Amino acid sequence: MKDYRPPKEKKMNIYHPPPGAKAYDSGLKYSSKTEDMNGFEEGVEFLPTMNAKKLEKRGPKRWVLVAAIVLICLFLSLLTGFLVWHFKYRNSHVEKHYNGHLRLPTLRFMDAYENSNTTEFVGLANKVKQALINIYNKNPDVGPFHKRTGISAFSEGSVIAYYWSQFSVPKYKADALDEAMANIKALNQTGLLKERNLDIRVESLVAFPSDPDIMKTSWDNSCRYALHAKEGVITSFSTPGFPNSPYPSNARCLWVLRGDADSVLSLTFTTFDVEQCHTGDDFVKVYDSLSPVEPHALVKLCGSFNPSYNLTFVSSQNILLVMLITDAKGRYPGFKAEFFQMPKQMTSCGGVLMGTSGNFSTPYYPGHYPAGVDCVWNIMVPQNKNVKVRFREFFLLEPGVPLDSCTKDYVEINKEKYCGLRQSFVVSSKTNQITVRFHSDLSFVDTGFWAEFLSYDSSDPCPGKFTCQTGRCIDKARRCDGWLDCTDASDEKNCNCTEKQFRCRNGWCKPKYWLCDGVNDCGDNSDEQQCQCPTGNFKCSNGKCIPEAQKCNGKDDCGDGSDEGDCGSAVTVACQEYTYKCRNQQCVNKRNPECDDEQDCSDNSDEDNCNCGKRAYNKKSRIVGGQDSDVGEWPWQVSLHAKGEGHICGASLISDKWLVSAAHCFRQEQFVRYSDPTLWTAYMGLHDQRDRTNAKVQSRSIKKIIQNPYFNEYTFDYDIAVLELSSPVTFTAEIEPVCLPDVTHEFPAGKAMWVTGWGATQEDGIGAMILQKAEIRMINQTMCNTLLPNQLTRQMICVGILTGGVDACQGDSGGPLISIEANNRFFLAGVVSFGDGCARRNKPGVYTKVSKLRNWIKQTTGV
Ligand code: ARG
Repeated sequence: MKDYRPPKEKKMNIYHPPPGAKAYDSGLKYSSKTEDMNGFEEGVEFLPTMNAKKLEKRGPKRWVLVAAIVLICLFLSLLTGFLVWHFKYRNSHVEKHYNGHLRLPTLRFMDAYENSNTTEFVGLANKVKQALINIYNKNPDVGPFHKRTGISAFSEGSVIAYYWSQFSVPKYKADALDEAMANIKALNQTGLLKERNLDIRVESLVAFPSDPDIMKTSWDNSCRYALHAKEGVITSFSTPGFPNSPYPSNARCLWVLRGDADSVLSLTFTTFDVEQCHTGDDFVKVYDSLSPVEPHALVKLCGSFNPSYNLTFVSSQNILLVMLITDAKGRYPGFKAEFFQMPKQMTSCGGVLMGTSGNFSTPYYPGHYPAGVDCVWNIMVPQNKNVKVRFREFFLLEPGVPLDSCTKDYVEINKEKYCGLRQSFVVSSKTNQITVRFHSDLSFVDTGFWAEFLSYDSSDPCPGKFTCQTGRCIDKARRCDGWLDCTDASDEKNCNCTEKQFRCRNGWCKPKYWLCDGVNDCGDNSDEQQCQCPTGNFKCSNGKCIPEAQKCNGKDDCGDGSDEGDCGSAVTVACQEYTYKCRNQQCVNKRNPECDDEQDCSDNSDEDNCNCGKRAYNKKSRIVGGQDSDVGEWPWQVSLHAKGEGHICGASLISDKWLVSAAHCFRQEQFVRYSDPTLWTAYMGLHDQRDRTNAKVQSRSIKKIIQNPYFNEYTFDYDIAVLELSSPVTFTAEIEPVCLPDVTHEFPAGKAMWVTGWGATQEDGIGAMILQKAEIRMINQTMCNTLLPNQLTRQMICVGILTGGVDACQGDSGGPLISIEANNRFFLAGVVSFGDGCARRNKPGVYTKVSKLRNWIKQTTGV
């Protein structure tokens, strides 16, 4: 919108620099130039050449006069032009800030240099300052514009001095200054830096433009801390006021962290809760330097992180700088961090690896690798074998690096570079040797990789298995089964389709029952194309075709209501089975209007009781460490323990005192009366089954268990129960209720969902200690009926991954199946009920359909 405003108004948007700074004057310059131009044009009109020619005929005197006037006018315009240019443009100055460091090779570091109040610090700082000014003065592009220089710190090696310099430079000379500063180290070689008269020698001078992240913020609260690690001791620090009060606004806090000479620092944020990255400008930046310069930034952090997320960083020298910048708004607790020093044996990465298999990883994995390291692993397996390397986890992501360019941090094997985030992948060699190189540049680090190497037989790389072109081995049965098991799809190429399969246009074979299931299985959508209704028709969810005109006409023409459920904006319509009913008994025809942060009912009842389904922690965009959940990732997850037996079933918190679980968990059995509420304890806020006494966990006994009266022990129809807690729980970052979907809520086939629990991690396996999560998909109910014949009722949905391998299992029962809806709100779509084994191919899990039982939950619990 702003872009379309007339230029006059645009001027109003110009940032007004503080007095003295003239960085943005250029905007004004252009506007005044335009005004001048107009003035000039008016002048021409006043005395056009045409007139001059006419006048010429009348006599020489007039001609001379006119010519003189024209000339004077021209001269005056030129002069004004020049003056405007000179004063407004040429003379308009910009402020430039640089940070950098230099080495003083002839000096020895002393402890006093760590404290800027000591006479030693001040003395040396003055000398360094003078030396810098002398250096600047030797360069005509630099010296004349220098305003101020300050020394912010010293560190070991002999002595390194960190400085900042401020310049005020006419706009047209700014680029020359940037260039001169960027090359200022080039003067090194000329020996000009030997400031003998100051009895210090200056080397390795570098300057960087100040971090743009800092320059664009303004602050009036500054705080500075200096901490020195003590041998064998972990030192903690935190944001001001942590954890009792929020960190200050408009602040710039700096923590200078040091260790003894020849040590490196390991820094870990143990708690991190700063304003969300997208809503504000607060952030924390860690630098592998004492100068806050972008080329030495290790990481920029904002938002909140789970305590289990690894936020460990290792320095390359004995120093680190942590900076917190905050804006005017937001009240967040901040961070708590700890650091310690360790011997600088960093060079010990890489090496020779021998044998038939083994593991290796980037330094400090799963902590962040240090900046500026190079590791080389030479892997050698027995003579008659070949070697391959499988990267299990791979995180080498750097901001601003285009994918697949790998210009900064990378892994290199066989002259090929790998970087960014990658799924598990394999690189193989046709010999018994392979060399893996890892390089990290001076800025921005990540957690790195861990990999294993394996030897294999060159004649038979995958004994008894199919070899993907990538070198990966997969089960022979997976060849030509319609699923892409090899990442390069080589298992599905050159297949002859069986009679149970159909051939996609692109030649792939897919099971016939995947036709028309709403999922593009072929990749070219050819499996979904013959199922379209003729043009001018609408396709109902049940497959029926109706004329487009009957959609949203207020009548159920499909027979399943799907033509009336989603009619764009919420319009009040006659109530039907598929329309959402507001509290005032009016109905709206918008699909899933509840808790979507939009008022759809005239009484706004669709947005009432929506304090649910939100989690406090950032969900990281990647899964760290397989399928373990992060702390607080599923705050409604409950673990139900039976006396003497431990964890038996899962459940979901729907209010501060009600849980939803599966009815079959509370069956009356011969020896144990699972229906007895006194047998049970519910654990909320639990992450690790071994850590039930953690302060974040709240446990309650059960007051009441209400199984759905229609629950059928044999068919598992209506497999749902509600449990009342003995007393309400307090909501925290780890304990929150989930939203319940309205009866009319639709979860379309193909939708991704999450199932969570402490159940077995494989069929007939044992339960997990850490809460597990798995992403599965809603499956078309017609297909479900073919896969699980005669088992499904209208109270069930089947959800899973048909390739197998991902599913709920024993011990997950009663637990949540979660769907992420509008505005990142989490809804309880299902309750884990049963399955045919666990994670078998074509055997999705079966879940109780919560929306179907929404009214029963409301009646029994009031929630
Ligand atoms: N009935 C099981 C239990 O009691 C849950 C089974 C879920 N199985 C599945 N394959 N999805 O824990």
